[in-house]
Amino acid sequence: MHPHHGSHSDPTFRSRPRATGEVVRRVAVYLRPYKLMAFGTVSCAVLSLASAFVYPKLWRIIITDVITEKHYDWLTPAALGLIGAFLLRELFNSLRIRINNSLEQNVIFDMRRDVYARLQRLPVPWFDQRASGDLMTRIIEDVNNVERLLIDGVEQGTVAVLSIAGALVFMTLSSGTLTLVSLIPVPFLVGGALWYTLTAHKRYRAQREASSAMNALLMDNLQGIRQIKAFGRQTHEDERFAQRADDLRRGSLIVMRAWANYGPAMQFFGSFGIGLVLWIGGLQVIHHKMDIGQLVAFTVYAGMFFYEPIGRLHGLNQILQSARAAAARVFDILDMPEERSDRRGLLQQPVRGEIVYDAVTFSYVQEERRSPAPAVAQPERRVLQNISLHAAPGQMIALVGPTGAGKSTFVNLLPAFYEATAGIISIDGQDIRGIALESLREHISVVSQEAFLFNGTVRENILYGRLTATEEELFAAARAANCHEFISKLPNGYDSRVGERGVKLSVGEKQRVSIARALLKNAPILILDEATASVDTATEKLIQEALERLLANRTSFVIAHRLSTIRRADQILVLRQGQIVERGTHDELMTRDGLYARLARIQGTTFIEEGFEKLEVG
Ligand SMILES: Nc1ncnc2c1ncn2[C@@H]1O[C@H](COP(=O)(O)OP(=O)(O)OP(=O)(O)O)[C@@H](O)[C@H]1O
Ligand SMILES: [Mg+2]
Repeated sequence: MHPHHGSHSDPTFRSRPRATGEVVRRVAVYLRPYKLMAFGTVSCAVLSLASAFVYPKLWRIIITDVITEKHYDWLTPAALGLIGAFLLRELFNSLRIRINNSLEQNVIFDMRRDVYARLQRLPVPWFDQRASGDLMTRIIEDVNNVERLLIDGVEQGTVAVLSIAGALVFMTLSSGTLTLVSLIPVPFLVGGALWYTLTAHKRYRAQREASSAMNALLMDNLQGIRQIKAFGRQTHEDERFAQRADDLRRGSLIVMRAWANYGPAMQFFGSFGIGLVLWIGGLQVIHHKMDIGQLVAFTVYAGMFFYEPIGRLHGLNQILQSARAAAARVFDILDMPEERSDRRGLLQQPVRGEIVYDAVTFSYVQEERRSPAPAVAQPERRVLQNISLHAAPGQMIALVGPTGAGKSTFVNLLPAFYEATAGIISIDGQDIRGIALESLREHISVVSQEAFLFNGTVRENILYGRLTATEEELFAAARAANCHEFISKLPNGYDSRVGERGVKLSVGEKQRVSIARALLKNAPILILDEATASVDTATEKLIQEALERLLANRTSFVIAHRLSTIRRADQILVLRQGQIVERGTHDELMTRDGLYARLARIQGTTFIEEGFEKLEVG
């Protein structure tokens, strides 16, 4: 079997194998909107084939009637007819190629759109288990491979089959004996095709996986380019990349080697057939059972319209097998159920923002179990345990706790990025499991721990909060988020580009832009995962002000690190190892003199984590 493919032992690159029939059937669905085009391309191919069918007949006329039987006046019309037939064939070919190109591009477009649309609607935990590079490979490369099956398969397949059938008719009419002779290589051709079909799929799959593995590494490394440089790991990464690229090289070579054996072998059996035909046919001509023109015509039929299309079918088989491996990977995405695809109710308007967590428990492991092949059976670890909470409309809830306590997880359950393992979360008395995701998320603004900006202009990034906002609303949001000033100073103002993930802005700037984005969305519920990054006091003040405006009149969950933010909360939840260990207002917790009080009292603490660390040590 294949040498090891170490680098893509990663299960994320695998795909569920599919039967050829399933692949063909499902891919054919994409042709449905283009019936006319498909019909046009096949018709052109058939017409071009029909024009070609004329010329063995004309050859025979030239050799037998003109040369042997000396009807010299037939030569000019026969030659002109031949040229005309060639011309017609290429005219139809040109038309076919043009229709075919549009058909091909349309189908790729449709399929790509479908895959992307589905991909976007898959649940967050699904993405936790994937590599972006792998998904990109599926959308870019694999869709192309699948599409080749459609275009080449439908058209060339039809033409080849018609050609073989037509040739067999002409051949039988011309000479029964020679037809039988020309069938001698057929069992070998069929046997070869069978071997290839049964084994090629595996090779293609390994090759596709290798390609995914390489792209995934590439994607990861591009994102981490600063880390690579900072740690001076260029040589190390060169090697890792080379390893994956080498896997792809080897995978491709294995595919090609099989084809290098199969293709020429099949060609040989075709030529072998022609040899046999000339051999036996020659004997027949010598014994005057056949004339030369007839033999030439027969040989042309057998060569051009019988063996050649058989060869082409073998080529198609190669495409089919490659498409099968690619299609399995595309269908993996198309077949994943969307997150809550069924229609559910809407959140009742107006949203007051009363939020209840009732005995909520959560563990990440369940998601891995759901996937077909869990790598290692991990023991279930509860990230959240029995969390209960009641937030009245407009309240600010602060979550504090050491790193890894489950704070981010806690808030991620509210917009249903993840679903609670047990317990109920409700908004205004409505269980969120019964609310359509669109409606649910429309009413929740999220400012995440690491501000993520899209590669585009500042304006585009803020407008992401509400695409229809006016210029005035945009500026108002930017002013409220204290970012109007710095944006105005950028070389192109609001039209300055922020770079991928917003690299061209500082952390503090990015954060304020993301606050402006949330302000523009103006949702009644807010989730704020405060960044831990320290900024200077002036910026800190700007951010604080921005946050205050953002928090006003909303029910908010704030994962806070700054004591100044926490102090203002209506409820403070102290989380430790997935459990609420203390709760109350700042004053209540101070008088209770528990963990929180000890934290807050530590001299010079600005960030609550510092307190945790000091307590742990002390
Ligand atoms: N997507 C995930 N899949 C599996 N486990 C996860 C995932 N995200 C977080 N965890 C685990 O869940 C636990 C809680 O993580 P969480 O991100 O909620 O912590 P946190 O309280 O927000 O910490 P921090 O203050 O550092 O942001 C951690 O032990 C972490 O390893
Ligand atoms: Mg977190």
